[in-house]
Amino acid sequence: MAGEIRMIPMTELLRGGDMKAVELKNGIYWVGAIDWAVRDFHGYATPRGTTYNNYLIIDDEITLLDTVKHDFSDITIKTIRSVVDPAKIRNVVINHIENDHATSLDKIMELAPRATIYITEKGKKGLERFFDLSKWDMKVVKTGDTLRIGRRTLLFLETPMLHWPDSMMTYIKEEKILISQDGFGQHIASAVRFDDEFITCESLSELEDAVVDYYANILMPFGPIIKTKIADIQKLGLDIEMIAPDHGVIWRKNPEKVVKAYLDMAEGKSALSVPIIYDTMWHSTEMMALPIMQGIKDEGVECKVIKLRATPMSVAIKEFWRGRGCLVGTPTLNNIMYPTIAEFLTHLRGLRPKNRIIGAFGSYGWGGGAVKEAYDEFKRMGLEMFEPGLQILYRPSLEDETKCYEFGREFAKKVKEYHSKF
Ligand code: FEO
Repeated sequence: MAGEIRMIPMTELLRGGDMKAVELKNGIYWVGAIDWAVRDFHGYATPRGTTYNNYLIIDDEITLLDTVKHDFSDITIKTIRSVVDPAKIRNVVINHIENDHATSLDKIMELAPRATIYITEKGKKGLERFFDLSKWDMKVVKTGDTLRIGRRTLLFLETPMLHWPDSMMTYIKEEKILISQDGFGQHIASAVRFDDEFITCESLSELEDAVVDYYANILMPFGPIIKTKIADIQKLGLDIEMIAPDHGVIWRKNPEKVVKAYLDMAEGKSALSVPIIYDTMWHSTEMMALPIMQGIKDEGVECKVIKLRATPMSVAIKEFWRGRGCLVGTPTLNNIMYPTIAEFLTHLRGLRPKNRIIGAFGSYGWGGGAVKEAYDEFKRMGLEMFEPGLQILYRPSLEDETKCYEFGREFAKKVKEYHSKF
């Protein structure tokens, strides 16, 4: 009826509602979903939300590359339907089985039960833990396998441990598009789909920040694999005009720029800067942080001060990753590190950081222990260490503040020396 007002449920509004498919090139569409509201992505802070990107190719055999997180399945199906009846999907490529990409597969297969699923061997083994695969036609693929879908050819490239054992990428030969899965992704929810649009509507620095954030928190352990895989792709001589990841914006303006950023990070490049990542009970460790910061700055090294309890863990990880050196400030609590610092260092150890120099400081009341424990953790990580750490009894005196300042200066000198090796 003309003039009728349709009430859109708030959940639908927040989750993307009526998104149109967006054409990347000649009948290849983004049909994903925008998660405007997610702020905690399995423990990783996502202040900008994220997207779950998947792609539809209209050809003789209609092909869907990846699905989306299960609670967005209705949205992707609706978006697919805006291009084609989902029942006509002939092939589904599953590049990665993590929940944010594969858990709508059952909904897609309900609509296209005769579709063939293309997946790596490890992907198939993992997917069996989520779905009964016996009712679906599954084809295992490996690097170098191709699938002709009409005018176009898909080339599969396994990328194990980038970042799961099952991961792969799919290259659309005739269109020169690399569907890169998590690789080159960013957690950004935005009304625009492409890098150049985002830079115009938002900012380049925000996009670059999102790339570093994603790499630091998800890909930090895999630098050597990243270098090898990028070299493999370069050896194959693939001409890549567009990189379409499964999160964030699609790289159409400058895909080589994000590849270079990845290679730089994988090779250990970083800024000559130092984050001081600390927590504090009665402000004594915090009082130490300020003269330390001043000492670092007076040596000409940039410094950021991050109070851990007031900052998401993933932001602290990102800031750690940006700088060449890091100082950790921890008070002693019950003879051990302050819990947030212990959590941070445990998280960091799992990410297997390399090419960074680290030291610790903190206040203590009677027995001490936190700074020593922090160094034990640094040793386990195999990081270059600045020793000895600095401990102050109860509360820094004026004399102690001078010690802190000198500690900062000496640390910055070491950071500069260490940085010159890269
Ligand atoms: Fe975006 Fe590994 O999932």
